[in-house]
Amino acid sequence: MTASTGTIKVGDTSFETNVKQGSIGPSVIDIGALYGKTGMFTYDPGFTSTASCESQITYIDGDEGVLLYRGYPIDQVAEHGDFLETCYLLLYGELPTPAQKADFDYRVTRHTMVHEQMARFFQGFRRDAHPMAVMVASVGALSAFYHDSTDISDPTQRMIASMRMIAKIPTLAAMAYKYTVGQPFVYPKNNLDYTSNFLNMCFAVPCEDYKVNPILSRALDRIFILHADHEQNASTSTVRLAGSSGANPFACIAAGIACLWGPSHGGANEAALKMLGEIGSVENIPKFIAKAKDKNDPFRLMGFGHRVYKNYDPRAKIMQKTAHEVLNELGIKDDPLLDVAVELERIALHDDYFVEKKLYPNIDFYSGITLKAMGFPTSMFTVLFAVARTVGWIAQWREMIEDPGQRIGRPRQLYTGAPRREYVPPSKR
Ligand code: SDX
Repeated sequence: MTASTGTIKVGDTSFETNVKQGSIGPSVIDIGALYGKTGMFTYDPGFTSTASCESQITYIDGDEGVLLYRGYPIDQVAEHGDFLETCYLLLYGELPTPAQKADFDYRVTRHTMVHEQMARFFQGFRRDAHPMAVMVASVGALSAFYHDSTDISDPTQRMIASMRMIAKIPTLAAMAYKYTVGQPFVYPKNNLDYTSNFLNMCFAVPCEDYKVNPILSRALDRIFILHADHEQNASTSTVRLAGSSGANPFACIAAGIACLWGPSHGGANEAALKMLGEIGSVENIPKFIAKAKDKNDPFRLMGFGHRVYKNYDPRAKIMQKTAHEVLNELGIKDDPLLDVAVELERIALHDDYFVEKKLYPNIDFYSGITLKAMGFPTSMFTVLFAVARTVGWIAQWREMIEDPGQRIGRPRQLYTGAPRREYVPPSKR
């Protein structure tokens, strides 16, 4: 990282500060001294111009539609590797050698079971509970079972907690699904790869053998890769902020899952599929495009737009290709939802409103169609996003904890409430 200097001038006050240049991407202005020098804060509620940290994990160029995992382009990582290779890359910073990959796969595989009492924990939920509610609770509850990996000052415990989190999140996700459909939990199998194991835990039943479709398993593994990390998005920032207080990693990941659930974030894949169903047919698209453009209508095209990508989300292109692969494999020739999605995308990409505001399909636009075709209910879509993003949250959490300059995150505010006033007794109100 190189640094130069800049001058900040506010009113009659001006002072020199550092401008730091990373390896690629925008430089940052160090404003740490601003309050002390000027008595003022910066103001950026949506963090549109604010870098919250220094990171070496993921890089996004929103204007060019570029996404790099530790420098490797997302399309190359998704095409050539598997999800656990991506996990290794995000955690350790380098692609694994064959021996390192085999050891990592072995270690993850042997952490996939959860404490047997976790099964009883699920019994407290209504059967119609949203699986994301179950995930927030059950992941947070892991800190009630694994006390031997919650001391974040111990690097060994940090690594054990990381492996446990990556290994157990698919098991908990499958349990959340099985619980809502009233089927018995299926234990992980050590002779299956990560994603095939997850599909088996979701769709196998005790009454008959279940054979994982390798095409679907490869497709879902690629979907996990696409969702693994994405710089300082809302849920990752939540995990970092929770972790900055020293909270244990299981509690931090539970906080990230809670944030991801929102329809503006990871909940968009569920919302996008519901929207496509609501549109129903190609003929109805113009009406919904008009609603999306109407300032007085809160309706938005779910799966469109992005805070950072002002070009096509590179993940959406791969998601679209995967959607067609899965539908072809399953012999689904004319999926009306896919027809609506393809036509909606075509219209939106030529509409002045969307072109001017640089609104392109994002990763959530095509994922719902694919996951529905695989047999997942809509309510499980964001759970699958959480399964994949757990490695990104863990990698970012560890990077934050291991930063020697790490401090608790504590933003300030612009106060516009009542100035000091004296207490009024009830008899005088
Ligand atoms: C994810 O941050 C990440 O990296 C997230 C993520 C990840 O991997 O972690 O990429 C995953 O969350 C993808 C985004 C999924 N969300 C959706 O698809 C929901 C629909 N999209 C929008 O809600 C919105 O685009 C956001 C939330 C994604 C981005 O919001 P911003 O950056 O705050 O932008 P904005 O809401 O200020 O919109 C800018 C303008 C507005 O118009 P003006 O007020 O300037 O006139 O574009 C309009 C908006 O009205 N707009 C849309 C729109 N998205 C933005 N209009 C219609 N439909 C949309 N989808």
